Amino acid sequence: MKKRCLLGFFLCCFFIAKGQDTTIPSSVKNVEAKVDSVLALMTLEEKVGQLVQYNGSWDLTGPASEMNNKQKEENLKNGKVGAMLNVLSVEATRKAQKLVMENSRLKIPLMFGYDVIHGYSTIFPVPLAETSSWDLEAMEKTAQIAALESAANGINWTFSPMIDVSRDARWGRIMEGSGEDPYLTSKVAVAKVQGYQSNDLANPHTIAATAKHFAGYGFGEAGRDYNTVHIGENELHNTILPPFKAAAKAGVATFMNSFNDIDGTPATAHKTLQRDILKRDWNWNGFVVSDWGSIPEMIAHGLARDKKHAAQLALNAGSDMDMEGGAYEIGLVSLVEEGKVSEEYINDAVKRVLRVKFKLGLFEDPYLYANPELLDQISFEEHKAVARDVAKKSIVLLKNEKGLLPIQDSVKKIAVIGPLANDKDTPIGNWRAQGKSNSAVSLLEGLQNNVSKEVAISYAKGADLGMGERSFLMPLEINRTDTSGFQEAITKASEADLVIMALGEDAFQTGEGRSQVDIGLVGVQKELLKEIQKVNKNIVLVLINGRPLEITYASENIPAIVEAWQLGSESGNAIADVLLGDYNPSGKLPVSFPRAVGQEPLYYNQKNTGRPFNPTHVTYSGYTDEKKDALYPFGFGLSYTSFEYGNLSISEEELTPGNSIEVSFSLKNTGEREGKEIAQLYIRDLVASTTRPVKELKGFKMVKLAPGESKTVTFQINEEMLQFYSANKKWEAEAGEFEVMVGGNSRDLQKVKFSLKK
Ligand code: NOJ
Repeated sequence: MKKRCLLGFFLCCFFIAKGQDTTIPSSVKNVEAKVDSVLALMTLEEKVGQLVQYNGSWDLTGPASEMNNKQKEENLKNGKVGAMLNVLSVEATRKAQKLVMENSRLKIPLMFGYDVIHGYSTIFPVPLAETSSWDLEAMEKTAQIAALESAANGINWTFSPMIDVSRDARWGRIMEGSGEDPYLTSKVAVAKVQGYQSNDLANPHTIAATAKHFAGYGFGEAGRDYNTVHIGENELHNTILPPFKAAAKAGVATFMNSFNDIDGTPATAHKTLQRDILKRDWNWNGFVVSDWGSIPEMIAHGLARDKKHAAQLALNAGSDMDMEGGAYEIGLVSLVEEGKVSEEYINDAVKRVLRVKFKLGLFEDPYLYANPELLDQISFEEHKAVARDVAKKSIVLLKNEKGLLPIQDSVKKIAVIGPLANDKDTPIGNWRAQGKSNSAVSLLEGLQNNVSKEVAISYAKGADLGMGERSFLMPLEINRTDTSGFQEAITKASEADLVIMALGEDAFQTGEGRSQVDIGLVGVQKELLKEIQKVNKNIVLVLINGRPLEITYASENIPAIVEAWQLGSESGNAIADVLLGDYNPSGKLPVSFPRAVGQEPLYYNQKNTGRPFNPTHVTYSGYTDEKKDALYPFGFGLSYTSFEYGNLSISEEELTPGNSIEVSFSLKNTGEREGKEIAQLYIRDLVASTTRPVKELKGFKMVKLAPGESKTVTFQINEEMLQFYSANKKWEAEAGEFEVMVGGNSRDLQKVKFSLKK
């Protein structure tokens, strides 16, 4: 419960501490005035303290700092720390908060951050999976629940959403984002911020969100994590920044910068990004936290001589808080005294931090989120139901031949095979917060829970995928040799009417630091698939994975393929809903699936180049040993019914500023089941002052249709949708011709033309 009466108490403490009049000045009416009033009381050391974040040390997500816990505790007591991360539970956060509230001079409450990426204890699909639902309402809802569960455990700040556009499936962190498209990622960013924060951050059911990683982190060279990013201004503005701008506009409380350098400057020292674009041009008033140790990492980058120099570069560039880097605490006070960092910059950073703390209601009640009663208000059963609902919506049907799906009533014996078939841990994915190990409903359990009594289910693992230790920090060893379980699986498959094979990736194959050169069915999985195929051709391949996989063999040889991702706590039940036909799949891929890893980075919204295509000889931009396009393109996903797009028309052939034109088309359900289609709108700017992508997603609609039903779907097009970062170095729409395309994925589209007259 909120204890607003404490506001007076805490402000009084400040004035007492200063030996001043203890009445609250009437000017302390709004957050800005409150922030200024607190800032006015602070010494330089106390200001720097607000810019320091410590790890709670028991749950490391990066290299540990050199400081021991005793010293950290002393610093908390002395007001030298503004925030912590990885302090988990009401009791632990209360204890840390008490150290500050009962000992420091100004008693400025701490913020407690944590990586709540896809749920706190109820685990939802990993973000890439969840984006496959294209269901913004559902994504907002899961963020709301994650906020509720986090807040009830003392956390008031999540380091989510990750909104790095990423086009390279080799990058292990692709699972944490929303894929390759800036428009879709922007929409998800807003839904997530809205879900975590709602409209009132001081409500103890909401928490502060973080837009990360600012910026370019998803473009690391060759998919290697933490790596150098080579992007020019055009790519930065048109592809990478839009989701961040959308999050800033949606009022996200904090940003996190990133480990990578961009064209020679580490993001942490990037003044143009942080001060000029984010804080000045976008007029955003939250604070920027560094990534874990990204300030001292500038020494390794070769930009900073030492920690103090790193602190100077970071603060001057607009990085407001130092996460577990130990640079601000040792460097900033003397840097100000030496005139290398201005106190004005420090004040600005501190004000940003205080502003968020005020908005979170922490000055009114520092223990607002350390309230054991909050946990009692949670219905975990309801959260489970939401987890199942969003999980089934996130499944993408990639292939369905021979009428294998949904599973027919004539199927009486099902063999469930594969290393992931009864894996209760992998569906929880990486970045699992407090999701318990082995707590997901496995695919096998999901089927057992949901099939009718006449169906007999047999199970054989066939082989292990990962071996040995599985943890956040350590590499996963893959089983590449042990096939001793094959025979049992082959026997069971040979006796069944239908085989459901669960292959893919272990939870600890994706996530931070988990870049891979092989993005196929690694280990002995492909071999197992081929052996099973020899004895039973009726195979439904269920993929459980965190990144787009190279599955060309399966796509050419297996009749049915379901992309089930890592779907969280209710994974098995949700997959069963789809396999058994209780839910007609509606998900669409937010990333391209390659034909070969050599195609990466692969994305639909490429540039045309000067040599787009020449089928007669080799001198065009492609490969001599593989096709150029995706195996399954962005936006692709089948249903148990079929949809027909027709009668595309446009209301006017000319668009003028201030007006809009309407694109309409008919969408018909030509199959025999009710279904939901995600209809997509793409636009191409044919001639512009810079080169432009061959198509860009500009809208989508979810349309539900009964069998045989047809609806007219419309999209409005206005000038704003045609804007891009032009040769004039600003966002503008240029007059000229455009193509507008509609369809059920980014490849199979109908198009019409229109022009913008200015
Ligand atoms: C490093 C990761 O890059 C970032 O995303 C995460 O929020 C921090 N560690 C804190 O765990």
